[in-house]
Amino acid sequence: MNTSVSPEGSIPRHVAIVMDGNGRWARKRFMPRIFGHKYGMETVVRVIDHCQARGVEYLTVYAFSSENWKRPEDEVSGLMNLVLVGISKYLAKLASRGVRIHVAGDRSKVSERVRQAWNEAEERTRHNTGLHVTVAFNYGGRWDIVQACQRALAEGVAPEALTEEALSRHMALAYAPDPDLFIRTGGEVRVSNFLLWQLAYAELYFTDCLWPDFDEAELDKAFADFARRDRRFGGVKQAQAPEQSA
Ligand code: IPE
Ligand code: IPE
Ligand code: MG
Repeated sequence: MNTSVSPEGSIPRHVAIVMDGNGRWARKRFMPRIFGHKYGMETVVRVIDHCQARGVEYLTVYAFSSENWKRPEDEVSGLMNLVLVGISKYLAKLASRGVRIHVAGDRSKVSERVRQAWNEAEERTRHNTGLHVTVAFNYGGRWDIVQACQRALAEGVAPEALTEEALSRHMALAYAPDPDLFIRTGGEVRVSNFLLWQLAYAELYFTDCLWPDFDEAELDKAFADFARRDRRFGGVKQAQAPEQSA
């Protein structure tokens, strides 16, 4: 694996990924959709490794949206089961590499077993200081904004004190800077209720590559694209020296 250090600023601090295309990847192989999700899980682990190698500090992956309950029951239960399988298979390895796991989403709606598995992943990695990996699970951007408002109000924050900063402190990813780079695989060009609040100034990158096929080279392509972006945050481009006439 190439671990060369990239020039300052060319690697995003926080990468947020909509991991889409598992179902189509499986269908192309005449396999059930869950087969794609299983491969997709292996891809997450590879992407975590590569983000660590490249010096990313925060990686947030969309694993189950608040709308994914609409899927057939067997697919939903298959995805829930994959959480348990994934944690028993990979938690020790990730923990030993210093990864700190966070889960963002409404945990009240998931089963006790899945909730406990996520709690264990967070607990076991609580003191780690390496890559922060946030798994967005039963997550919706609108849910996040509403729960942040509710928690702030419950704490007694007055309406005039409910500033952007105050609300940010109650958002699910309060511990992380806003994403610098948003990646969506699978060819769709939409956000699908992912980090609505936090993506305000993220650079957006869309690729047709289906998630199970997304490898180190694909991630590096996204980083290379990011490195060419001119981020202005509403300001103006830095003044350039006027071209010399011949
Ligand atoms: C994304 O892949 C994974 C989840 C939403 C859990 P999909 O399952 O949406 O795959 P496609 O979009 O149907 O191919
Ligand atoms: C977004 O993918 C959710 C996740 C990747 C977890 P979907 O496949 O659910 O999104 P839509 O339905 O195409 O918008
Ligand atoms: Mg999809």
